[in-house]
Amino acid sequence: MSILIKNGKIYINGALIKKNIFIKDHKIIKITSQNLKADKTIDAKNKIIIPGLIDGHVHFREPGQTHKEDFLTGSMAAAAGGITTILDMPNTNPPTTNLQRLDEKRKLAKKSIVNYGFHFGSTNNNIAEIKKVKDVTSIKVYMDYTTGDLKLDNYNVLKKIFSSNKTVTIHGENENIIKAIELIQHAHNHIHFCHVSSKEELHYTKNKKIKNSISVEVCPHHLFLTASNVNELGSFAEMKPNLKTKEDQKALWEGIHNGKIDTIATDHAPHTKEEKYEINYPFGVPGCETMLPLLLNALNEKKLILKKIIQLCCENPAKIFKIKNKGFIKEGFDADLTIIDLNLEKEIKNNELFTKCKWSPFDGWKLKGWPVVTIINGNLVFEYGKINNIVANEVTYNE
Ligand code: DOR
Ligand code: ZN
Ligand code: ZN
Repeated sequence: MSILIKNGKIYINGALIKKNIFIKDHKIIKITSQNLKADKTIDAKNKIIIPGLIDGHVHFREPGQTHKEDFLTGSMAAAAGGITTILDMPNTNPPTTNLQRLDEKRKLAKKSIVNYGFHFGSTNNNIAEIKKVKDVTSIKVYMDYTTGDLKLDNYNVLKKIFSSNKTVTIHGENENIIKAIELIQHAHNHIHFCHVSSKEELHYTKNKKIKNSISVEVCPHHLFLTASNVNELGSFAEMKPNLKTKEDQKALWEGIHNGKIDTIATDHAPHTKEEKYEINYPFGVPGCETMLPLLLNALNEKKLILKKIIQLCCENPAKIFKIKNKGFIKEGFDADLTIIDLNLEKEIKNNELFTKCKWSPFDGWKLKGWPVVTIINGNLVFEYGKINNIVANEVTYNE
């Protein structure tokens, strides 16, 4: 099937240009002023076409916790949020820490309607599997206790992982970030810090004179909420790392503007409402459906520009994780595209969400600027509130 997207403005190389996009065989074939004949035409008048977002950090809960989410519902939420690729975390049940479990997860993910990749888990004793594993996004290291029992505290193992030739993604909070930075001084791999949430953490991740390449991720909840929101939302605003002060939040926004922050990812971590009401509630909040609307609303409030959003959510995750043929609107690249309407005003409503958990800490927020159409591998997957259930692919990686 071929599609022509016409009358819209396309984001290419930092500018918005008025051209048409011709899509065929899952690829962007031509960016053109011509009116090429296609099986289907999408009128994008008064809209902007951006690269589909790559969410580098989600927990879609398969296997083992499908009462919270699964690859279908999680990917529906992603598609509705303008996200065309997700990278799934390994703290499932059982965790993704050996090749056989990775294979099993690959099978489960076949129902995903957005493209997907996998972070591989590390434990105190799976270094042999880490050496063998291929075609994963990164090796994820949990240096703190969190959902799923994957805390890694053996110094020698950490050292080995940090000097493997694979990208390492770190859940580290506070002093563990400092510890990680000490450990990687002599390593040669790329280190990615997940969900940096405080002024101090940001300072450590980007101010030490380390020769490694380092990237820093922040999450929408740390950009748009602070600890004071816990008063009203209780456990529904509790995640790890937790919400911080206004001053920390300000430092994160500064980091966005001065380039210390490389990417924004959701850390989509759904739990059921019932679980959140328990005394020993689990940590984490969903985020796939709300990240882009929150950022587009911030754009409308002049808090950041479109170029920044695209760098942080499309281009940089593709570069950091070496995702092939994605992150940019370019002839020959995969036709993963998000059409946004900067003038659409809508409220986030729990009961309208696609995530299985059906709640968001942003319930009731009125936002201006929404994704309206999501095209994945050249298929029309999300269209003005409706989902078309078309399965997607596992990503491939550049050398
Ligand atoms: O809040 C969190 N939830 N932080 C994590 O590190 C894990 C996540 C989850 O899986 O629920
Ligand atoms: Zn984490
Ligand atoms: Zn996470």
